[in-house]
Amino acid sequence: MEAIIITQPGDGSVLALQERAIPQPESGQILIRVRAAGVNRSDIHQRTGGYGTDPTGQIPGLEVAGIVERCGPNASRWKIGDPVCALISGGGYAEYVTVDERHCLPIPETLTFAEAASLPETVLTVWSTVFQWGHLSAGENFLIHGGSSGIGVTAIQLARAFGANAYATAGSDEKCDFCEQLGAVRCINYKTSDFEQELNGIPIDVILDMVGGNYTQKNMNLLAMDGRLMFINAMQGADSPIHIPTLMQKRITISGSMLKPRDPDFKATLTADVEKQVWPLIAGDQLKPVVYRTFPLGEAARAQELMESSDHIGKIMLEV
Ligand SMILES: NC(=O)c1ccc[n+]([C@@H]2O[C@H](COP(=O)([O-])OP(=O)(O)OC[C@H]3O[C@@H](n4cnc5c(N)ncnc54)[C@H](OP(=O)(O)O)[C@@H]3O)[C@@H](O)[C@H]2O)c1
Repeated sequence: MEAIIITQPGDGSVLALQERAIPQPESGQILIRVRAAGVNRSDIHQRTGGYGTDPTGQIPGLEVAGIVERCGPNASRWKIGDPVCALISGGGYAEYVTVDERHCLPIPETLTFAEAASLPETVLTVWSTVFQWGHLSAGENFLIHGGSSGIGVTAIQLARAFGANAYATAGSDEKCDFCEQLGAVRCINYKTSDFEQELNGIPIDVILDMVGGNYTQKNMNLLAMDGRLMFINAMQGADSPIHIPTLMQKRITISGSMLKPRDPDFKATLTADVEKQVWPLIAGDQLKPVVYRTFPLGEAARAQELMESSDHIGKIMLEV
């Protein structure tokens, strides 16, 4: 099969289309013939060696959609020919990938493969971090930094679908308009306005932050009593001072999570919960994939370069 290989840590030029053996499904796994794969920020971090391990020889890709090609021993839920999308822990930029069958979801009839492949990573991350762990509930105020990111467009839609009031920040007026059309009550262009000043007076119950750095104190100032600050990255800075009296006075909870290293049983339980609670929203048009641009598999470097430019809104996809 053809696959995109990281030939050494570095910029997009280190990605090369090469021949690899088709993986064989082990017990409880299925083999998917990939039709589309999602591009995620994490793939870029992996490519540059940002996770602290040498990525040479690895195939990136955390989510795919395609057709079940084979079922391994003890895999019984899916049959050959079923269209599925899946969360995987690597290997998605390829013609075939094996996956724990419990990490797969059925592709709703209305979605293309590219649209279906755009969902698993963001939906599972937002569901586990914001809803399961952050306990966002109806009527609460929810602030999403990076509102136009792949994560952001999912978070805004899920917040609205579950009756929360979504606020967002993004890096241009065009991105902010998009976030508001998607369901955000208000989106602030953080490059031209101070989001803390703009949202002053609106008690925020939950914040989903991927920025860190000097956002942390501003976030804490905006949080309501019993507010929850949930980190999924720290793109602006890994270290932030915490003003402990604010934390105590407001009984703030600060937490964070990384989906990729979670164990297979956790991901299976999470996927089952998403299928039950979130998947029906797709049929009801309350959750729509936001695919910004699709590239052929062989142009994965261009796809990642577009993501690094941050010019996109929503998801960047690869088609196989
Ligand atoms: N922990 C987890 O399990 C997990 C899972 C999935 C994703 N994530 C993280 O969630 C984030 C979004 O992922 P994604 O795949 O959806 O990526 P993405 O679409 O590329 O989104 C990243 C967004 O962050 C904004 N941004 C970049 N640098 C910034 C900065 N210094 N300050 C403020 N905003 C900045 C950019 O938009 P602007 O124009 O608005 O700047 C960009 O759209 C990434 O950081 C990713 O690593 C974490």
